[in-house]
Amino acid sequence: MEFKEAVGARRTVRCFQPDRPVEAAKIRRILEAARLQSQHGNAQLVRKAVVVIKGETPDAIRDALIDALHRQPRAAAAPVAIVWVQDMAGWTPRDENRKQFLDALPVPTGDGWAYEFVDNGEMSSDDFYLQMQHNAQFAQWLTSFECGLAVGSALLAAVDEGLGTGLISGRREEIRKLFNMPASCTPTHVQLLGYADETQEVAGPRSQPAFDDLYFAHTWGNPL
Ligand SMILES: Cc1cc2nc3c(=O)[nH]c(=O)nc-3n(C[C@H](O)[C@H](O)[C@H](O)COP(=O)(O)O)c2cc1C
Repeated sequence: MEFKEAVGARRTVRCFQPDRPVEAAKIRRILEAARLQSQHGNAQLVRKAVVVIKGETPDAIRDALIDALHRQPRAAAAPVAIVWVQDMAGWTPRDENRKQFLDALPVPTGDGWAYEFVDNGEMSSDDFYLQMQHNAQFAQWLTSFECGLAVGSALLAAVDEGLGTGLISGRREEIRKLFNMPASCTPTHVQLLGYADETQEVAGPRSQPAFDDLYFAHTWGNPL
């Protein structure tokens, strides 16, 4: 599918063919699209996911997930659910990753990227997670931003694979415990996947903000 077609066609799908499985290769390509998204300072390990597949994941776990998603009917209808997770512990090896990134950088370090920056820059630390304890809000925000980038790609990749998809929210702490995630993890949103049920109203009403309410030229509020 052409990129702009996927962007334009993406909508939150609410009706799925419950008994039509999603091919494993499609799921992998969707996850791959998220994995390849840009990341802050080559952090690498902050956005993760657990994939729940109807007929493969134990029913008790899938049922408990549906329950934690407030039993929204589409959660039960979708054969696949990707539980997107942000993991604050993923920041820990950050400095090493940044240095590897530096070694592999195809351009000279004149733009400010240097070992000294990694070691002494304003966000340097052996343990970013601990350092950011006093500014947990910023650390969480940064991590959520990264996770959102990845999930955005995964949504478009699902459309590109000819699937219906959409995000759904639930009780985070319950979901974290259900999958035995460590305390550093926060489940963000769950991405549903499946073939859209074309015999039903698949997406529902949708309104998008006006372009001019969002984007400005030269100064805030000035139309582009
Ligand atoms: C982060 C996020 C969480 C969402 N959670 C839910 C949800 O729990 N239940 C639901 O029906 N829709 C949920 N949605 C879907 C939005 O309500 C829907 O995307 C919105 O109406 C925009 O429509 P569109 O995705 O078709 O453009 C969620 C969307 C996002 C981005």
